Amino acid sequence: PKRVRIHHLQQWKDAGERWPMLTAYDFPTARIFDGAGIPVLLVGDSAANNVLGYDSTVPVSVDELLMLTKAVVRGVSRSLVVADLPFGSYQSSPAQALETAVRFFKEGGASAVKLEGGAQYAGQIRALTDAGIPVMAHLGFTPQSEHALGGFRVQGRGAGAEKLIEDALAVQAAGAFAVVLEMVPADVAKRVTAELRVPTVGIGAGPDTDAQVLVWPDMAGLNTGKAPRFVKRYADLAGALGGAAEQFADEVREGVYPTAEHSFE
Ligand code: KIV
Ligand code: NA
Repeated sequence: PKRVRIHHLQQWKDAGERWPMLTAYDFPTARIFDGAGIPVLLVGDSAANNVLGYDSTVPVSVDELLMLTKAVVRGVSRSLVVADLPFGSYQSSPAQALETAVRFFKEGGASAVKLEGGAQYAGQIRALTDAGIPVMAHLGFTPQSEHALGGFRVQGRGAGAEKLIEDALAVQAAGAFAVVLEMVPADVAKRVTAELRVPTVGIGAGPDTDAQVLVWPDMAGLNTGKAPRFVKRYADLAGALGGAAEQFADEVREGVYPTAEHSFE
């Protein structure tokens, strides 16, 4: 498609075609991922850690994510942009969620929003979809609830599997167009994917979800710390960028850069 729309994601599920999604937090990366054919870009609240240096997603504000969303939207011509609603901006009520989502939609230019949670946020999801704002839901390990969940732990094991499936069906019934499944056992994600009409997007959820998402600085090796088990590094950007900076520094110190070709007569 010339411009990816949510009905394309449904068509791909119905046709059994898997699709990729990446986070993006700024104009240059959005332009690169759009050009690389990534159909869906998520302005994740993982920007809290990956761009702003917070140690969790909890502190990031609507205004901070809104600025990043605008930059990403300016960088795409084809990719669908989904904006995360940050912690505290939608939990109180469907009215609060709508007020926040309207900002990401109207000021930010996003084509959809994402929020964390299941059946307990069905009212929020319904209010947004009724207003014409498509909603992606996020179940399993939900980072905004890190403290309630007792840290970074796989969700939906054992009896938790039934709860996960109930939540997935509830958000679908409330109007969600897709459901992220984060850190859930592969067989449970497979079951949810089979039971849902709408696409599932896995991260640490095994190979059988309809789509896969990764946080781009993880996937591209810009983050160098210990990565979660589900991350695959496709590049070494930290190495490449650090190397470029060191070479520039060396050449300045040695008088190798600039030369005549970089200078004006
Ligand atoms: O914020 C984020 O990056 C996310 C994805 C991991 C799904 O929510
Ligand atoms: Na997120």
